[in-house]
Amino acid sequence: MSVADDFSLTRAGSLARLNTLRVAARAEWLAEARDAADVPRVLARPELRDLPCLALGGGSNVLFVHDVTGLVLRLANRGITILEDSPEAALVRVAAGENWDQFVRWSLEAGFQGLENLILIPGSVGAAPIQNIGAYGVEARDFIAGVEAWDREAETCVRFDNAACEFGYRDSIFKHRPNRYIVTDVDFLLPRRRALRLDYVGVRQELEAMGVRQPSAADVARAVETLRRRKLPNPAQIGNAGSFFKNPVVSQTELAALRDRCPEMPAHAYGDDQFKLSAAWLIDACGLKGVREGAAGISERHALVLVNHGGATGEELWALATRVRETVAERFGVMLEPEPVVI
Ligand code: EPU
Repeated sequence: MSVADDFSLTRAGSLARLNTLRVAARAEWLAEARDAADVPRVLARPELRDLPCLALGGGSNVLFVHDVTGLVLRLANRGITILEDSPEAALVRVAAGENWDQFVRWSLEAGFQGLENLILIPGSVGAAPIQNIGAYGVEARDFIAGVEAWDREAETCVRFDNAACEFGYRDSIFKHRPNRYIVTDVDFLLPRRRALRLDYVGVRQELEAMGVRQPSAADVARAVETLRRRKLPNPAQIGNAGSFFKNPVVSQTELAALRDRCPEMPAHAYGDDQFKLSAAWLIDACGLKGVREGAAGISERHALVLVNHGGATGEELWALATRVRETVAERFGVMLEPEPVVI
């Protein structure tokens, strides 16, 4: 290992502890930068210049099927800075290396509202815009004012405003150009007052069970925390990357055709004329919840979550994911798309 400026660089670096699916893959080169200014310095190294580069945050949304050719760059920069403040809202710059959940808790303690539904999502702040992370009726894009990134092609820092990020359901411009943009900081516009989002299935019931009649943002955060802990396996206990499949989005005509064959299929309106199917329901209906192939499995708690019971390789996990996709496609004619980045 060599350490120069404020970054470390390792050849054949182990990724085992850097991905929450706990796959024991290796990176041809592994760099960790503790400062955004080190990103161009790392990339300018002669041995790294022409290699593909994958930026890695908390590793909670990636499946390494094989060892990684080229450079894996982990950004470990820190800092939460209020750039502008008013009685209504604040513009807050957060370093990509900050932990998402800790940032959410900071925002609630500082008196801001809005991020309460996004508590306990694993991963880093830098990964939030890439995936446009979302839960319980709220998405990161609702609060992202801008993203600062290093543009590897233009060799300069670039700023994306919210529209330029091209956010979609678990999607953004960054997800499509993983080799080009390295997110270094994210700016959030955090309101001090915002209507609480309680409509997602389960949230109101959980608040009722807690005996809360007039919930505060902190109450909603507690309710969501309880729901997540009950439903989703904890990556600290069992290797997983949250939802492994996206909920398929279909047109009204497609939904009607699916419901001709399967009237009980659940769907939620999405946008003006589209519908989101429940990937978990489709997998569950195929009897795949809780299945195991060696150490690779589908969680017994939630059918959307691929789990590593211990020692599964990336290839084994991907083989099981492929079996799930093929089974669902055969039975329902719907091809599930993975949510994490599959390398
Ligand atoms: N369901 C089943 N079997 C299961 C689990 C769920 O049939 O094992 C059905 C039920 O009908 C349930 C419905 O699926 O009502 C929806 O389940 P859930 O509320 O858990 O939501 P989801 O659509 O499965 C999405 C996100 C999660 C997020 C939750 C809550 C995606 C791919 N996943 O899951 O995000 O926490 O909503 O908002 O959009 C993640 O992205 O990693 C993630 C965990």
